[in-house]
Amino acid sequence: MLQQTLLAASRRPGLRRAVVAHPATRRVVDRFVAGETLDDALAAVHALAADGLAVTLDHLGEDVTDRAEAVRSRDACLRALDGLASFGLGPAAEVSVKLSAFGQALPGGHDVALELVRPVVEAASALGTTVTLDMEESATVDSTLAALADLRRQHPGTGAVLQAMLFRSEADAEALASPGSRVRLVKGAYDEPATVAHRRRKDVDAAYVRCLRLLMAGPGHPMIGSHDPALVARAHELAAQHSRSADSWEVQMLYGIRPEEQRRLAAAGTTVRAYVPYGADWYGYFMRRLAERPANVAFFLRSLLTR
Ligand code: FDA
Repeated sequence: MLQQTLLAASRRPGLRRAVVAHPATRRVVDRFVAGETLDDALAAVHALAADGLAVTLDHLGEDVTDRAEAVRSRDACLRALDGLASFGLGPAAEVSVKLSAFGQALPGGHDVALELVRPVVEAASALGTTVTLDMEESATVDSTLAALADLRRQHPGTGAVLQAMLFRSEADAEALASPGSRVRLVKGAYDEPATVAHRRRKDVDAAYVRCLRLLMAGPGHPMIGSHDPALVARAHELAAQHSRSADSWEVQMLYGIRPEEQRRLAAAGTTVRAYVPYGADWYGYFMRRLAERPANVAFFLRSLLTR
């Protein structure tokens, strides 16, 4: 119930203004977001890389309402890739993008988003790295997977995200378990109806394991996007069972969530990639992180009261 309320709030402009303007919000946001500027994000990348972590950089933004904003998203991602180039990390530093930030929801949006994301994917390939297409609400999955198929024809390293909570994801995992295919498997962060998604935590976890088995048994590059210790352990068991080398799969976690575990896994030889969000448009991302964990809401409310 709390989760649904927070996810609904992430779409309410009035509340957005109040939360963003509140001086105490910043302290909580800083835990999950690397900063507002590219320089802030690059400083975080530098520190994470020094700890042996790979990164995927996310210029925050979603649901743009006109083409000019979508063009600004493209340009921000191109600047991010330029910035990452200076570290010379190759595939250890990639970018993640949301097609809704590239105009996917505008009239003719599928084509607009594809046209604007393509130069980002090309620039990443030229640097020897990749782009992963984040997955948003279930209504956008067909368009995002169609964009993926198009981009992968010339840039086969382009990655996708599957949300275990969606009933369709097992079939999508099977279809995407092909050579070179990079798939990040996550539980799913959006409020989806019971007609398309598992709603109970234990059903989502069971669906996650079914998708995980398919991806780990296949010839692609599975990316385990989860902080759940039981699922990360299951991924290690399956990697051993399928004799996967450490560079043929990876664990991904969000910036600021279980950071000690990220470093511990990397030191023990697992490829770990931190998802590093930055930028001024952090509201939607922040509200989804609050929705994932009631303790975050309590922490947020305490900071509002103790400012
Ligand atoms: P779960 O929610 O069960 O959490 C397990 C444990 O992790 C918790 O007990 C807690 O210790 C810690 N934890 C998890 N979330 C936390 C939080 N917000 N704050 C503090 N601690 C927390 N979703 C989506 O729909 N589309 C996408 O493209 C992506 N992309 C993505 C990339 C990466 C790298 C990750 C890790 C996740 C995503 N997600 C996503 C989000 C994902 O769908 C999911 O909502 C979160 O990862 C939380 O689920 P867990 O698997 O971590 O398990």
